This record gives sequence, C-alpha cells and structure tokens, in this order.
Amino acid sequence: METVVSGIRPTGNLHLGNYFGAVKSFLQMQEEYNCFFFIADWHSLTTHPHPDNIRNSAKTILSEYLACGLDPEKATIYVQSDVPEVVELYLYLNMNAGIGELMRTASFKDKARQQLHISREGSEGDVEREIFNEGNKHSVSAGLLTYPTLMAADIIIHKALKVPVGKDQEQNMEMARRFARRFNTTYGVEFFPIPASFHLGERSVKVPGLDGSGKMGKSEGNAIYLIDDEKTIKKKVMKAVTDQGPTEPNSEKPAPIQNLFTMMEIVSTKDTYDYFNEKYNNCEIRYGDMKKQLAVDINAFCAPIRERILDIAANTEYMEKVAREGAAKARESAAKTLNEVRQIIGFRPY
Ligand code: ADP
Ligand code: TRP
Repeated sequence: METVVSGIRPTGNLHLGNYFGAVKSFLQMQEEYNCFFFIADWHSLTTHPHPDNIRNSAKTILSEYLACGLDPEKATIYVQSDVPEVVELYLYLNMNAGIGELMRTASFKDKARQQLHISREGSEGDVEREIFNEGNKHSVSAGLLTYPTLMAADIIIHKALKVPVGKDQEQNMEMARRFARRFNTTYGVEFFPIPASFHLGERSVKVPGLDGSGKMGKSEGNAIYLIDDEKTIKKKVMKAVTDQGPTEPNSEKPAPIQNLFTMMEIVSTKDTYDYFNEKYNNCEIRYGDMKKQLAVDINAFCAPIRERILDIAANTEYMEKVAREGAAKARESAAKTLNEVRQIIGFRPY
C-alpha cells in the first residue's frame, strides 16, 4: 500500500473551506492508503506563538479532525513534536541543503518580507539586503529559512509517495523532492522514494466566501467554522452579499451570487439547488429565502460535527490516548527509516 503524508498547520478552527478542500479527501484516503496525518506544531514556531497557544491549538485541531471522521484505527494521526526522529533527519537534510536555494523560495521571501515590514512592492534585492542589515540580523530566523527542509523530513521519514497539499505548497514539494534526490545521489543509494503532491478526484473544490468574491479563509475573515452554532451560522449567511436580482431571464450570475449558489451546491441537496436556480432563471429569486435555506443546510451539516467536537474535546483521556498511540506508530515508522539513514551516513544504528 502506498504511503501518504500530510501536515496541517495548527492555525485555528477548521472552516467549511478546510473541510471540503482538504479533510473530505483525507477521509477517503484513509480508506485506501497507508496514511500519516500530523499536526505541524514545530512549523508553527516560525511565527513565535505563546506556549499556551501551542498547547491549545494542537488539541483543538486534533479534536476537530477526529470529529470530522479521521480515524486513528485507519490512519496514523500524530503531533509532529511527539516524533523527535524527524528533527534528526532535518539535521542531516540541512547539511546538504544550500542557503542559496532556501533563500530563493517564494514562501521564504514572502514571510521574510512580512517580518521585515517590507511592502509587497519591495524588490527581491530589498529582502536580501534587509536580512543582512546590521539592525535586522536576528529578525528573520534560520528556522524560517529551513522550513522546507523540515517539511521534507516530515514527508520522507515515512518514505511517502503521495502528499495531499494545495497549490500553494508546490514549491515546498519541489524542495522536498530535491532533498530526497540529493540524499540518494550524495550517498549513491536508491533509498528515499521521490514524493509528489496529489489530490483525490478530478479537480479540487474551492469553497467561496459569502462576502462578495474570493475563497473562504481564516485570514479573509469570512470563514464559517465547523464549530459555529446555529445562530452564528445564520448571522454569517444572512450577511452574505447579494444584489437587486436579475432582470433578464437566464442571466449570468455576478460573482457574489455565484458564490451563494456554489455554496448551496456544496452543502444542500440537488433539489434545493435546482429550486433556487430555477427561481433565479425566472427572475423570481428572493435572496432572503435562499439564504435562510442555506443557513439551515449549513447548520444541518455542521451540527453533528459540532457535537462530536465538543464531546471529544471534553474527553481529555481519549485525546491523550489518540495522541500517544499515534505518536508510537509514527515513531516506529520514523525510527525504521532513521536507523537506515544513520548507517548510510556512517553512524551507528540506535
Ligand atoms: P486558511 O486559508 O483558512 O488559512 P489553510 O491555508 O490553513 O486555510 O488551509 C488548510 C487546507 O484547507 C489546505 O489544504 C487548503 O487548500 C484548504 N482550504 C483552505 N481554504 C479553502 C477553501 N476556501 N476552499 C477549498 N480548500 C480550502
Ligand atoms: N507547509 C504545510 C502548510 O503550510 C504544512 C506541512 C508541514 C506539510 N509539513 C508537511 C504538509 C508535510 C504536507 C507534508 O500547509
């Protein structure tokens, strides 16, 4: 069975975009592959979170993933920082990773730019010059620079072939492949398989925001969270941007209206969608009614997940058990790889 690895940054509660864009395919993958899904808490150190946040955010995300149906019997679910083998591999990979190639990655440049408060218009040369500026000498961390080597270690420690991630991770994946290949050529072995990004299904779903245009996202401030209660969902949906309604039958839908329909297509039944679509095409649509229905359907989807989140989060013992058992399974797989790596490099196995 092929191995799948994916890491999730613990950056807050899951929203409908995360569910339909990522979690839903994880649920399918755990049935078909040898899956490792982990919470990338070491990666979150690049933004210097408070210890309380680190503790809580790993718990939050674990309870939400379990509530969605990620199943510790089917997939290995663990917290990255529970698997110290990963850091040892990270060290070896860093020895063969170039500062130059790491500095050229787009995500490093973007984040460094933010940390140095350089505007988006600033040239690439500006970022490099500022990093080496005396006043900034510890503003941009070596951890941020080596984010891609840590990610590569996460993936190849389990010899994964498939990595379900979004488009924004393409460059990190390119680096992971490069570091895996480099290890193989450096030591003249065919040891690490070369991983590729992947998603199930013909095309990935994009869940829209209901505030006019664009996608749903945490940083967009337009997210409907799985944990939101009925009232909150209704309030968010009723605020969705609409217009006066069409005046010509069968007119094209402007972006905000299309978003409302796209959301309905995702969470409602086909009959409901068809009903409102017909109303739109006849110029009889009443957006208030459509939004009410959408709020009901979103709540019907979220309510059982919400209840499970609350149950699971309250069951500290169960959460601990899942994390402990996940860590044990992940460490077993990681230690097996690492023992061979140590011998290939010239160190004693454990
Ligand atoms: P956010 O944009 O809210 O910060 P992340 O970047 O942490 O979310 O994304 C985590 C996962 O959820 C990724 O796989 C990403 O592709 C997916 N995802 C996030 N928002 C959406 C969306 N609106 N539609 C589809 N997938 C999404
Ligand atoms: N970099 C990924 C993100 O920002 C998270 C991540 C860390 C990851 N390690 C990984 C994803 C390994 C897949 C495999 O979303």
